[in-house]
Amino acid sequence: MKPIIAPSMLSADFCHLKDDILMVNESKADWFHLDIMDGLFVPNYSFGMPVIKAIASAAEKPLDVHLMIVQPERYIAEFKKAGADLLTVHWEACTHLHRTVHQIKAEDMLAGVALNPHTPVSFLEDIIQDLDMVLVMSVNPGFGGQKFIEQSLKKIEKLRELIIKSGSQALIEVDGGVDADTAPKLVKAGADVLVAGNYVFKADNPLERIETLKKAGSRKK
Ligand code: DX5
Ligand code: ZN
Repeated sequence: MKPIIAPSMLSADFCHLKDDILMVNESKADWFHLDIMDGLFVPNYSFGMPVIKAIASAAEKPLDVHLMIVQPERYIAEFKKAGADLLTVHWEACTHLHRTVHQIKAEDMLAGVALNPHTPVSFLEDIIQDLDMVLVMSVNPGFGGQKFIEQSLKKIEKLRELIIKSGSQALIEVDGGVDADTAPKLVKAGADVLVAGNYVFKADNPLERIETLKKAGSRKK
């Protein structure tokens, strides 16, 4: 049932990671969103293979892995081995995006491409039919808890038009500043997948927050 909800583990409590994984297992969320940062593509580091493997060992839902790293093609097979089900690379990080997308598919994962806030949707025209997902960054990647960029709504509408026009089956995922206020607007604009970090994990009742996001599609705005 849409929207698909993918809590971002970047905002989880790493001292009690297992508790947060079990909470997501129990919740109405659909995927685990894992943010991988290399300190080069984005000005921050997050976590790597050992943590992904640990999450995979306890997670009962698919792992949606968002790579904010340069030259992601170097690690595609390793991310598969670590437990990734869906692998998203950044448009801005790939010189040979078509090849990288097909490498991901050859490893039997779903392939996503992420767009930074300044990267136009039109740059996907010649590859949209090969994609399982497009991730629209609604903040500049690198950190949780940033302010939602309003222009992202128009971008999602444009992307929805491109997907319809091309006959692509790609899902639209949105990442950054998703909360009870932005979620219904995003779904209305055409988003299929909502990623949320702080809104879920910095709350007293994360289960309730996930339910609120899940209902974003049914609210009139
Ligand atoms: C940012 C990451 C996001 C981040 C979202 O670079 O890609 O997934 O964790 O965090 P919130 O929902 O707090 O904006
Ligand atoms: Zn992310």
